[in-house]
Amino acid sequence: MIALPHQWERAIERILDAPKGVVFLLGGIDTGKTTFSQALAAAATEKGVKVGIIDADVGQSTFGPPATIGFVSIPKSPKFEKLEPSDLYFVGNNSPRGHLLQAVVGVKKMAERAFRTGCEMVIVDTSGLIAPPMGEALKFHKIDILRPRHIVAFQRAKELKSILEFLGGYGYFRLHRLAVPSTVPTISTEKRIEIRRKAYSRYFKGAQLVGLDLGNVSTFPPDADIGGRLDLMHLLVGLKDDRGQTLGIGILTHFYPRRNSVEVLTPVGPSSRISGLVLGCIKLLPHGEEVERMPPWKVRKEVSTPEGSPTRGGKK
Ligand SMILES: Nc1ncnc2c1ncn2[C@@H]1O[C@H](COP(=O)(O)OP(=O)(O)O)[C@@H](O)[C@H]1O
Ligand SMILES: [Mg+2]
Repeated sequence: MIALPHQWERAIERILDAPKGVVFLLGGIDTGKTTFSQALAAAATEKGVKVGIIDADVGQSTFGPPATIGFVSIPKSPKFEKLEPSDLYFVGNNSPRGHLLQAVVGVKKMAERAFRTGCEMVIVDTSGLIAPPMGEALKFHKIDILRPRHIVAFQRAKELKSILEFLGGYGYFRLHRLAVPSTVPTISTEKRIEIRRKAYSRYFKGAQLVGLDLGNVSTFPPDADIGGRLDLMHLLVGLKDDRGQTLGIGILTHFYPRRNSVEVLTPVGPSSRISGLVLGCIKLLPHGEEVERMPPWKVRKEVSTPEGSPTRGGKK
């Protein structure tokens, strides 16, 4: 375990001495949020506090595959690398960009889940998307819906200035401002992509082809008409059960328009558990390589006629 700066240790003590609830971690990429989340969680379990972590970083996931938000309940003396999430929410992309609704709904659902399972403290580890306007909107609305007791802000320079300004007017949380030591390394974009590829590859190891009868499975978006959509080959999808809980993720691999069915490569099974299919917007190969990003409007297959009026693609 990395030796934490005194300032970070003091923040952990203060949080543990105060009313618990949601602890929201706020900061850019590579600022130590995940490291802090685990140190705080481990310290909480030492004190007998029932604690969970929500991994809301869909790009550099710690718990569960990328493109999902994961919830994990933390045991005493945790071995974090061995922990598996008990709940997931499919966001559909490796970044909250273009998926802000899913990111906010998912984090709230996971927090509800955490408190229902008896957590007194729920640490929300977030992505590094903080830049205006999208990052600000995302953080503002996540904080608004979660109503944290504590916000821990990790700042290198002045990158959180405007977010901290608009948070300044609210008094329902304690704000802990932490400086990021210069020893915290930054990771290159290439390395991030490779970490993500490996995480997908681990997830899909041992996955099998699962056939889904589209007549029995609800798809979102509802007008995607996926049975005959060869252009959706390799698309990442979320798989839900009949209560709307995310069971896991899969890759669309085979299309049978006449039978109105598809096959999905996924570790989730059996197919009878799967009631819902949610389309993501990236295409993946089973070893985790991202081959294409598909904008949501293209996934919906809504195209414009020469006159400019929208129509459903492929249907005359
Ligand atoms: N206080 C610290 N001192 C030195 N290195 C750190 C510290 N906190 C984190 N690190 C290292 O910095 C890198 C990024 O930390 P991480 O917690 O993953 O950041 P984030 O979750 O904000 O992206 C990791 O390699 C981690 O081991
Ligand atoms: Mg992190």
